[in-house]
Amino acid sequence: MRPENQIMTSKIASAQEEQPAPAIGYHPVLAGQAALVTGASSGIGQGVALGLARAGADVVVNYVSDQAGAEAVAQRIEGLGRRALVLRADVSQEDEVETMFARAIAEWGTLHIAVTNAGLQRDAAITDMTLEQWNKVLDVNLTGQFLCHRAAVREFRRRGVDPAVSRAAGKIICMSSVHQRIPWAGHANYAASKGGVMMLMQTLAQEVAPDRIRVNAIAPGAIRTPINRSAWDTPEAYAALMELAPYGRIGEPDDVAQAAVWLASDASDYVTGTTLFVDGGMALYPGFAHGG
Ligand code: BGC
Repeated sequence: MRPENQIMTSKIASAQEEQPAPAIGYHPVLAGQAALVTGASSGIGQGVALGLARAGADVVVNYVSDQAGAEAVAQRIEGLGRRALVLRADVSQEDEVETMFARAIAEWGTLHIAVTNAGLQRDAAITDMTLEQWNKVLDVNLTGQFLCHRAAVREFRRRGVDPAVSRAAGKIICMSSVHQRIPWAGHANYAASKGGVMMLMQTLAQEVAPDRIRVNAIAPGAIRTPINRSAWDTPEAYAALMELAPYGRIGEPDDVAQAAVWLASDASDYVTGTTLFVDGGMALYPGFAHGG
């Protein structure tokens, strides 16, 4: 740590104890819309599922292994007065994705919003990384998004625009990462998958814009979730993390959810093919704040 940052960092480290800010600023801008969120049993997916429900949407809560977590999220959605549907599917499996979309559409008639969030890390130095670790991350983080996008686009095109519901026929929100831009040693599979998500998102946005389907991505930085617990759950780790986050706090799932609600709503109707960084400045080359 640079000496001039020490006082600042000890002040910031205590922020680790702070409770997440309460969800604020939600309006029912998504009323009457049905959303599907993959990987919604925990972490960012859980936060986004709850945020969309706070904004008025009904939500399909997809999970792959944590059924109890998914059911708890569904209960909270119902507590907000919305409908919830818990569906298990491994997003890297074509038949499971197809079945999940078919069941959701059979149940609710259609879907208006798809948040392709499910993702994981299998970290290893390049010479230690197994083909299995490489493939698993690419299969879930990239192929999983493709399979869900394809199913979502088919449904959005089938229904077309319903002006009583939204100006768009459908909205796809891809969960990317700051690592679509920031190289990350020891995480080649993950960074490659997120770089792939960026170009998949942009290409798909170009392809389906004439159908009035909008496709955007969110690139979260460090968000307080289980995937990166070791980066924030001790004061030392939190202080090191703050060296990379100029805004001086970790992100909360609700920070990402607020962005997802905006991208899903007609407030962003002319926005497609873009990535919204929700990262407290992590992608701003914080190392250059002093020096260069
Ligand atoms: C990763 C986290 C990491 C964050 C910032 C995310 O995409 O999943 O583990 O803390 O990027 O590096």
